[in-house]
Amino acid sequence: MNESVGNVTVLDHPLIQHKLTIMRNKETSIAGFRRLLREIAHLMCYEVTRDLELELIDIETPMAPMKSPSIKGKKLVFASILRAGNGLLDGMLDLVPAARVAHIGMYRDHETLEPVEYYFKAPSSLEDRLVIVVDPMLATANSATAAIEKLKERGATDIRFLCLLAAPEGIKHFTEAHPDVPVFTAAIDSHLNEKGYIVPGLGDAGDRMYGTK
Ligand code: URA
Repeated sequence: MNESVGNVTVLDHPLIQHKLTIMRNKETSIAGFRRLLREIAHLMCYEVTRDLELELIDIETPMAPMKSPSIKGKKLVFASILRAGNGLLDGMLDLVPAARVAHIGMYRDHETLEPVEYYFKAPSSLEDRLVIVVDPMLATANSATAAIEKLKERGATDIRFLCLLAAPEGIKHFTEAHPDVPVFTAAIDSHLNEKGYIVPGLGDAGDRMYGTK
């Protein structure tokens, strides 16, 4: 069973946990890391969307007309915090191909660890849509809180945050800043180091996805 404490849910499906272990291993190749992130995104997307409301719509099968369940309301929005968010985004879009996509470019200033925004592009109507923000690492939570601030300014009211790993410090910062935004993660690690990396973590998710350093 997934475990929830307050607003934070740890998705402990055995496949998610198994794949995460392989991703954490520093010997895992770039191709393997990318593939696993996409696969975990499928499993996490399934969990994060499991309470979406359905409505019955009229269709005709080759055999007969019927009323069949379909997701109610406007198309979902997936908001990727660049660049590592794109690894989760790809997997989410595999499952919900009609979702709208927002891209939020934030990088961490390595000195201050503060987020610097360099790009923001989102669908014009965020009201009345579920917005799922994705970023594999909730470390200081500076980028995530700033990104969600921006989405709220643009009208989003129904927001969820999905990450792979979270640090306790990041969870505290995030849930204080946005108590209305549920967080879904595959694991909560020990702590942040002095450079703002999650320990034991998996290193720099963007570097491991794209082979940069
Ligand atoms: N971002 C990463 O990619 N890794 C961390 O450990 C923290 C932030």
